[in-house]
Amino acid sequence: MQQVALLSDFTSSNFKTVKVANHTILLIKNGDAIHAVDNRCPHMGFPLSKGTIKDGILTCHWHHARFDAQSGCAFDLFADDIPSYQVEIDGEKVLVEDTPRKKPTTDYYQKRLEQGLEQNISIIIYKSIIGLLQAEKSHLEIAKQIAKFGSRNHETWSDGMTMLAMTINLWDQLKENTRTRALCKAAKQVASNCENRPARRERQALENVDFQPERLGEWFKQWALTRHRNGAERTLLTQLEQTSNGNLSDMLFGALHNRVYSSSGHDLDFVNKAFEIDASLEGEMSKNLFPLIIPTVVNARGEEEKSGWRSPMDLVSILRTAEEQLEATWKDDNQYSDTDLSELRACLLGEDPQAIVDDILELLRSNAHPLKIAREIAYVAALRLAQFPEGNDIADWFAPVHTLNFANAVYKSILRNDSLQSARGLLHAALSVFQDRFLNIPAPKLPDPSEELVQAYRNEPNWERKLLDTLNEKGSWRAFPEQAVAAYRAGKSLPDLIDALAAATLREDFDFHKLQSVEAAAVQGQLWDGANEVEPIIAGVARHLAAHAPTPRGQSNMIDIAKRLQRGEKLYEEAS
Ligand code: FES
Repeated sequence: MQQVALLSDFTSSNFKTVKVANHTILLIKNGDAIHAVDNRCPHMGFPLSKGTIKDGILTCHWHHARFDAQSGCAFDLFADDIPSYQVEIDGEKVLVEDTPRKKPTTDYYQKRLEQGLEQNISIIIYKSIIGLLQAEKSHLEIAKQIAKFGSRNHETWSDGMTMLAMTINLWDQLKENTRTRALCKAAKQVASNCENRPARRERQALENVDFQPERLGEWFKQWALTRHRNGAERTLLTQLEQTSNGNLSDMLFGALHNRVYSSSGHDLDFVNKAFEIDASLEGEMSKNLFPLIIPTVVNARGEEEKSGWRSPMDLVSILRTAEEQLEATWKDDNQYSDTDLSELRACLLGEDPQAIVDDILELLRSNAHPLKIAREIAYVAALRLAQFPEGNDIADWFAPVHTLNFANAVYKSILRNDSLQSARGLLHAALSVFQDRFLNIPAPKLPDPSEELVQAYRNEPNWERKLLDTLNEKGSWRAFPEQAVAAYRAGKSLPDLIDALAAATLREDFDFHKLQSVEAAAVQGQLWDGANEVEPIIAGVARHLAAHAPTPRGQSNMIDIAKRLQRGEKLYEEAS
């Protein structure tokens, strides 16, 4: 304990700030007692010395959070508790402990994270995650806690769980700052998804009999088509318990592909993401995770129910016939060969949907690897983004972005399981690329930065800042992709570019689509291993970001505040 004040210091005011171990502590006179708390409001750092004490309640004047002045505990939960310090009075002297009463531990942060998720309070979620990462909890352990919360507290897979999966997938390519932001935003989105929703009601697997995976698959297809949620969930749980992941994948992707390009491709990626989180958590949460995607599968709407793929050309018929042909010729024990795919790209960019599916079927018949076909389709989808003209309606961006994200999801589903059911996705993705062709008229030139700009990136140690600053102005459709390509040509690695694009995405108030396309760039970009295709992929994703930035960046600002509070920084210098 150290002496920090005298009782006589409180004759004209109930407040006095003192420095203890480099922290500013607020001493509060409350009747005959003196209390001590951190002077920074735990909500957003406003100096509590500018607040009010009345009836033992300390009120922060900024957003009016109220706290018990002695313990520091908040009555208004959005603000979090204030660290409080033990005080002793020795005659005239006021003595204070130099460490808070409760030093936050890992258990404390885990509990706070749970409370933050339950109450959907961003600052508590962010501070808890930052505290856990500082305490060297692995991101997977934190992700598991968030995923457990999500699987208990909502019925349906949503964008929060998707963001969580993307954060796990991208983790190794992101720098510390970007990773933290991604995890914070994913957790907050899971909390928002769960807020005011009924908790999940568990169903059970079928019992007493060993079922054949094919039979379960047939049943599942039927339940999905007739939108029978309970039947689908019990069948899925049985498949999960009794057979392999490959059968589970075929069952889910088979049912999804029975809807054409289901829900603009979202459903396939959501199912993919469930597999990805499940794999990262080594199957520990399978029974909790997979049921969340059942409503997605049974409520899916396909293009066969709409007019865009029916008229003026009946793409649905072309697709269904092609799927029958694929099934008739598919070999499960395929020995893939190094088939030439050089003509596929022009065909994908062409005007003949029948030629597109025929080309893909012929390639598969000649043992081309479906992953190579998927890579080609995803590349053309990225090209559509890179050549999206400024004259289009901003809402039109959704179409090519959905296609890229879907094409990437098809690639990943085949990578996990190169089966017939996964390969059907190639046809859906290729026809979606075809559908987007009008969104490239007129097609702008791909970025080709000057040598001077490339050199500027070569010489710029703080090149990420330079790149991101381009997005501070609206209308950087041309400038941002050009700068991103210049950075790449200057020798910045693909993971560094991905980190910069992810950082640019996460600081904005975007929904999950933008991060999904950055993830697609990360996966697809590395497949081309330095070839010419990498630049258009970077340019496509960069152009999409630039079309929508800047936003108010509110969430990002809150994460920065949480970080600074956790680091013990003073947010308002004038306070002391
Ligand atoms: S209530 Fe204190 S900063 Fe918001």
